[in-house]
Amino acid sequence: MSTHKHHTGLIDRYRDRLPVSANTRIISLNEGNTPLIQLYNIPRLIGKDVDIYVKFEGLNPTGSFKDRGMTMAVTKAVEEGSQAIICASTGNTSAAAAAYAARAGIKAFVLIPDGKIAQGKLAQTLMYGAEIIQINGNFDKGMALVKEIADHAPVTIVNSINPYRIDGQKTAAFEIVDDLGFAPDYHCLPVGNAGNITAYWKGYKEYATDRVCSTRPVMCGYQAAGAAPFLAGHPIEDPETIATAIRIGNPQSWDYAWAAQKESGGWFEKFTDEQILAAQKMLSQYEGIFCEPASAASLAGALHDIALGNIPEGSKIVCTLTGNGLKDPDTAIAQCAAAHPVTIEATLDAVKRAILDCL
Ligand code: F0G
Repeated sequence: MSTHKHHTGLIDRYRDRLPVSANTRIISLNEGNTPLIQLYNIPRLIGKDVDIYVKFEGLNPTGSFKDRGMTMAVTKAVEEGSQAIICASTGNTSAAAAAYAARAGIKAFVLIPDGKIAQGKLAQTLMYGAEIIQINGNFDKGMALVKEIADHAPVTIVNSINPYRIDGQKTAAFEIVDDLGFAPDYHCLPVGNAGNITAYWKGYKEYATDRVCSTRPVMCGYQAAGAAPFLAGHPIEDPETIATAIRIGNPQSWDYAWAAQKESGGWFEKFTDEQILAAQKMLSQYEGIFCEPASAASLAGALHDIALGNIPEGSKIVCTLTGNGLKDPDTAIAQCAAAHPVTIEATLDAVKRAILDCL
């Protein structure tokens, strides 16, 4: 008899550690259980003795880690009788909110910065049937409006200021420890609104407190240079980066993120768009893993800190790849413009020449 157990989502898997009861109607798309993939070629390429694993969150049902938080937030919203949810978003939260609202049979309103979310995310949000409200303003402005509107309309906020979002997202840390059998030495991830670093730290702390693992990782939070309030030490006014997912100047989980940094002995660092895109391409071309630009900040940061010795050889490192590369095809195609495919005659001869020219 097979011992295989069908994965029915992270609430089912970790229900002992989540605020649900036996009667709770679970709103799930079987999110979580994402692969932890060890990199082989990149460590060899950089000539360092390090174990780097990527937690590929782009393989969640809507293509990002947001599904972890959204299954919890929407489950609780429905349990509390809510008929509508609302969020501000740089694209991934809105896609996840829209999908889980559709699954639950409730309404989703999403505020997005006009022209500043990636095409794939817009396509998803449209298809899932959310009410899209585009604003002439960035994520921070949208977030401020969402916080105000909740007092004026019967809508549940499902941004990461909703504590159920953090609870759902902490399960990624559980999965990593469950897969490895231990906690990594370093955990590297991109930081935007700072909900995810808050959630991972909560998850690792919980497992360590309950002795599921004996150590906790150093938390390394990486930002885009044009959107790096944690490096500035204060919120910034006009964040700008090609990694639109993390185009955020006023992170809501400010204090929690600083606590994660201090308690874990970690740090923040920032990287240019060029460095982020280079890491994204490296991961695709050397490992066959296609993440979105914001996600690649985690690898850009890890490689930088390994090179400097901030992360010593012998370390076990996990990088979270927060979203799927297919979310942002425009940035990918633009980046590969030099390799733009040529069109040839549809003849055996022409195809043969095209191949032999490349070998
Ligand atoms: N990576 C991706 C792909 C994201 O979409 C986000 C956040 C982050 C990293 C940063 O995570 O905010 O928890 O620090 N996206 C939000 C959104 C803001 O609206 O989709 P964070």
